[in-house]
Amino acid sequence: MNLDELRKTARAIVAEGKGILAADESFPTIKKRFDTIGVESTEETRRAYREMLFTTKGVSEFVSGVILFDETIRQSAGDGTPFPKLLEQQGIIPGIKVDKGAKALALCPGEKVTEGLDGLRERLEEYRGLGARFAKWRAVIAIGDGIPSETCIETNAHALARYAALCQEQGLVPIVEPEVLMDGDHTIERCYEVTFAVLRRVFADLADQRVEYEGMLLKPNMVLPGKDCPRQATPEEVAEATIRCFRHVVPAAVPGVLFLSGGQSDVQATLNLNAMNAMGSHPWEISFSYGRALQAPALRAWAGRPENVPAAQRAYSHRARMNSLARRGKYRPEMEEEAA
Ligand code: 13P
Repeated sequence: MNLDELRKTARAIVAEGKGILAADESFPTIKKRFDTIGVESTEETRRAYREMLFTTKGVSEFVSGVILFDETIRQSAGDGTPFPKLLEQQGIIPGIKVDKGAKALALCPGEKVTEGLDGLRERLEEYRGLGARFAKWRAVIAIGDGIPSETCIETNAHALARYAALCQEQGLVPIVEPEVLMDGDHTIERCYEVTFAVLRRVFADLADQRVEYEGMLLKPNMVLPGKDCPRQATPEEVAEATIRCFRHVVPAAVPGVLFLSGGQSDVQATLNLNAMNAMGSHPWEISFSYGRALQAPALRAWAGRPENVPAAQRAYSHRARMNSLARRGKYRPEMEEEAA
């Protein structure tokens, strides 16, 4: 393992004012997103949509890395430049989703385990050859009556740790993503409890598998009330709960924490990120690795029409800039209007 290279890549991903664009939607997920704009999901529409994102000028000021999907890392822009190369030319680091999705966890009703460890070493080797310098694996943990079970937490943490070890062996920075879902009516306190239990287990398993904390990044959920909880939280409450939880359980040797947006609105995700960074300095860089919260307005503006590409790129660039400001604690909601 070349720890120096891993450290360097990890630090570049959480460079000041920068974060990640998650554009690694699987076939079913991108279809769901395209359904909302009435666009059929085909290899060509997916390629055209991602080309729109990846050719947005100037966005490398705000975006350090992009997570690609298996199909996307093999695709090219209209002029024949492979997507990973196109990103690199702008100083953006290509990454790749390597898990094979969350499947029903045997004997644990309502819970899931992420699959994809078989053959992973060989796939990582191939992805590195295609230009990837970091990888992502997402585990999902649902909150509900009697869940998550200890079995679900342990099984997912173990898989994340094995994935991370293989990534470091192959020279890819693992982004370790244990996502506690927002679905349900649970309180913010319950989310705190579950997030804490999950992260504690994840870091114990990472250590057991000899993963170097300095050569990895964490992509967690924020500590939030469930979507249907009658008592929603202010950005300051979210920031306080999230940072308190993480200070207890995320080792300071981890260079960065890049939050997922997980179904928050785009502005909400920016406000919450901003509140965390406005609290002052933390042991780790606090950044974003947003899918929906970076893409939603661009997707709507694009609507599958080539003539809408400039408007869609403006929408994406705007959200990236807002999150870059939030990454420094310098975002104000009025900035949404100023730019419009
Ligand atoms: P969201 O920000 O839309 O949750 O997506 C991030 C991601 O990559 C989830 O795995």
